[in-house]
Amino acid sequence: MVWASGWKLASAVSNAGGLGLIGAGSMYPDVLREHIQKCKAATKKPFGVNVPLLYPDIDKHIQIVIDERVKIVFTSAGNPKTWTPLFKHNGITTVHVVSSSKFALKAQEAGCDAVVAEGFEAGGHNGKEETTTMVLIPAVTKAVTIPVIAAGGIATGRQMLAAMVMGAEGVQMGSRFVASEEASSHINFKQAVVDAAEGDTFLSLKKLVPVRLMKNKFFQQIQEAEERGANEDELRELLGRARAKKGMHEGNLEEGELEIGQVSALLNEILPAGKIVENVWQEFLEGLRHPLKNANFNGE
Ligand SMILES: Cc1cc2nc3c(=O)[nH]c(=O)nc-3n(C[C@H](O)[C@H](O)[C@H](O)COP(=O)(O)O)c2cc1C
Repeated sequence: MVWASGWKLASAVSNAGGLGLIGAGSMYPDVLREHIQKCKAATKKPFGVNVPLLYPDIDKHIQIVIDERVKIVFTSAGNPKTWTPLFKHNGITTVHVVSSSKFALKAQEAGCDAVVAEGFEAGGHNGKEETTTMVLIPAVTKAVTIPVIAAGGIATGRQMLAAMVMGAEGVQMGSRFVASEEASSHINFKQAVVDAAEGDTFLSLKKLVPVRLMKNKFFQQIQEAEERGANEDELRELLGRARAKKGMHEGNLEEGELEIGQVSALLNEILPAGKIVENVWQEFLEGLRHPLKNANFNGE
């Protein structure tokens, strides 16, 4: 995740038994190399790098991933056909993030090993179609034969269990880990995430790059511009440069862009990443033992 998952978060998740991902999207190439090297030093467990394919320096990022012998890459925001063959040629497990069955099939055709199916609830960039995780997971698991990892609105073990009952083989959690001690997000942003309530996020900027944002002054400006029919250029100008950095990294909660998912409404504590993984796992096991919390049939 941009401005959240550097080596500290990725290695903490991997050390706790999850698969930590370094978010390359907010890093200059040299910074990415440094994070990969620090992550390798901090964990002996597998970790991966998320590479948004529309990044301007994408070829440099990819060369670093290959040179540093990263074994797992998650790609997003772009065509998986362009780079997947190169990753596979270098023995890298490649997973692409999609928001529809159509794109999941394209990822499979491109040779991806798995897809992340990310629903409407998710924080960050998202599909225009507004397909919720609840609908997307069964649809994508039916459409493709490669493993499906569910994302969007998942922060608890019972939600993970539900996604797996629907056919997912794993889950990707974003927002839950923004509110972790190891995330590089600014403390103001982490606190806003755990304070958020239902209805505090909205899928914005649909004309340009759909992204789920926390409602704030910047968000209101975008909404007003969209309502008066602003074109793409005007929206791009309003977005300007470094809005995401200003909000999520520098903690400017009014002027900055704050990417976060609906599930922020369920979060109320900033926790160590390892504790989050442990809580999710314990709740998942408890859910397996007692899947129906209030079962009241068969005489019970
Ligand atoms: C702050 C933030 C930054 C994100 N950055 C990226 C990114 O750079 N690349 C990407 O593929 N997904 C990104 N995502 C999406 C997450 O990887 C994940 O799929 C999503 O958060 C899952 O939904 P959830 O927020 O409901 O857990 C981001 C999400 C958040 C909240």
